[in-house]
Amino acid sequence: MALITWQDRYSVGIREIDDQHKQLINMINELNDAMLAGKGKELLLPVLNKLASYCVSHFAVEEKLFATHAYPETADHLDKHHKMTAKVTALIGEVKSGKSTISIEVMNFLKNWLDKHIMETDKKYGPYLNSKGVK
Ligand SMILES: [Fe+2]
Ligand SMILES: [Fe+2]
Repeated sequence: MALITWQDRYSVGIREIDDQHKQLINMINELNDAMLAGKGKELLLPVLNKLASYCVSHFAVEEKLFATHAYPETADHLDKHHKMTAKVTALIGEVKSGKSTISIEVMNFLKNWLDKHIMETDKKYGPYLNSKGVK
């Protein structure tokens, strides 16, 4: 069963970004399924790495839009992206070294982070970028 499901309330009003958020949701669900299936770290790590690199490229797309359109809340938003990237990098290190595993707690953290980041942080740029012609 999907841990997180796309809902229209997640839409930031920009097609490319919504599509990327849908991909992130798919990857979190894929990781959750692998975790629930009791897959070893050999199988979890590639899925986690794929999620991490997709996050990095997604953040870069958002940050490029901010730079292009002089988004006033760029600094705060970048700070949140940097903190998430650092957390996921740390998690990969812990899973690799065997110090930690992908657990229900980790999955809930990822799910809640995405929900909160989209709803409270990403949604703020929607109207601003729409007003600059980004749809
Ligand atoms: Fe985003
Ligand atoms: Fe973001």
